[in-house]
Amino acid sequence: MSRIFAGNWKMHLGPEEARAFLKSFLARYRRVTGREVWLFPPAVSLETVARETRDRAEIIVGTQNVHWDDKGAFTGELSVPMAKEAGARAALVGHSERRHVFGETEDDTAKKVRALLRHQVKAVLCVGEMIDQREAGQTVAVIERQLGALAGLDANALADITIAYEPVWAIGTGRNATPADAAQVHRAIRAWFVARGVAARNLTVLYGGSVKPDNIAALLAEPEIDGVLVGGASIDAGAWLEIVNSR
Ligand code: PGA
Repeated sequence: MSRIFAGNWKMHLGPEEARAFLKSFLARYRRVTGREVWLFPPAVSLETVARETRDRAEIIVGTQNVHWDDKGAFTGELSVPMAKEAGARAALVGHSERRHVFGETEDDTAKKVRALLRHQVKAVLCVGEMIDQREAGQTVAVIERQLGALAGLDANALADITIAYEPVWAIGTGRNATPADAAQVHRAIRAWFVARGVAARNLTVLYGGSVKPDNIAALLAEPEIDGVLVGGASIDAGAWLEIVNSR
């Protein structure tokens, strides 16, 4: 399985800035066998990023959010077919900011995952506990509840889902889980899938939350961690280059 380095640009880098970022990044990034770079720009920059990276097979473009219906009266929303037409081959679902800032429910994430599967766009389901839940020893229970969005999917569909474990208290805070803490949760996630018929080796579990050039190597040294989902450090072409080239 390839290692995945995913950059979630959040509400940064409109088309002009995206082009400048890619110019700088692509000039210096050389493809490394067994590594994929996934970029999640804001919706308005999807087409630009897809166009600028179309000759780089190892770079996958994705959208940060989708609606579950294909079209309709949903002001401000983006459907999966539209995102796909603009070049998206993947989508984040249930990012902690969607859940905690915009009130996305588990039912919403479940519908989004199904819409993505229907259109063969890779779903990256983000899960993670809040600090009080961690301190109360509820981490695995919270994650399993969030994985409930996948209930009823068969093993084939489940094997197509990428999971990103992002402890909420580590996102944008400069605090990150230790590789050992992350690995413990990754093991619980893998066990959930294995219990539903998915071979552990077919599953990709990313870690996210304050991943930076200075902690990436320790995280990747942990065999449970198949890659990373990076926010803040992914919009700085220099930091991002260091992350994707890290050994
Ligand atoms: P961060 O964000 O790297 O800025 O902590 C990660 C994410 O939200 O995906």
